[in-house]
Amino acid sequence: MSQESQAITWRAEFATGVAIIDDQHRVLIHMLNDASTKLNDRSPIADFSKIVQGLLSYAGYHFQTEDRLMAEYDYAGQCAAAASMHASQHKAFAEKVIAVQETLKAGQRVQKAVLVSFLTEWLADHILNTDKALGAYIGSQQAGGVSPGSTSSS
Ligand SMILES: [Fe+2]
Repeated sequence: MSQESQAITWRAEFATGVAIIDDQHRVLIHMLNDASTKLNDRSPIADFSKIVQGLLSYAGYHFQTEDRLMAEYDYAGQCAAAASMHASQHKAFAEKVIAVQETLKAGQRVQKAVLVSFLTEWLADHILNTDKALGAYIGSQQAGGVSPGSTSSS
């Protein structure tokens, strides 16, 4: 697939500096491109539903990874406002995608372009403005010699 036909392309500026987060973001980008390639406005609702369910489930797994890192590095304790904003963005995303899934389950169509642009815009914005802040925080903690678990033992 050429870059031009992709819904979203990995860009260097997406790197958070945390390998596991970046790897999972690459998977999400791949899934979005896959959705964009496989779906069109005449695709069966079941195809939309299957793709939305897959995204929801991988996004849930990815959010758990970030939540675990936030807990390990005491993000909420050190950066309360950023941590709570981060959690509410994940929650809002899940709620929105679940609402899409409910629409599909009710037999109503969703427009592919609307779905794909919501997902790609949300992901790019969230990575650039929210996950990168978390990545920078984790990087600064690691540079200061903090490793997971060491915050509670001292
Ligand atoms: Fe996140």
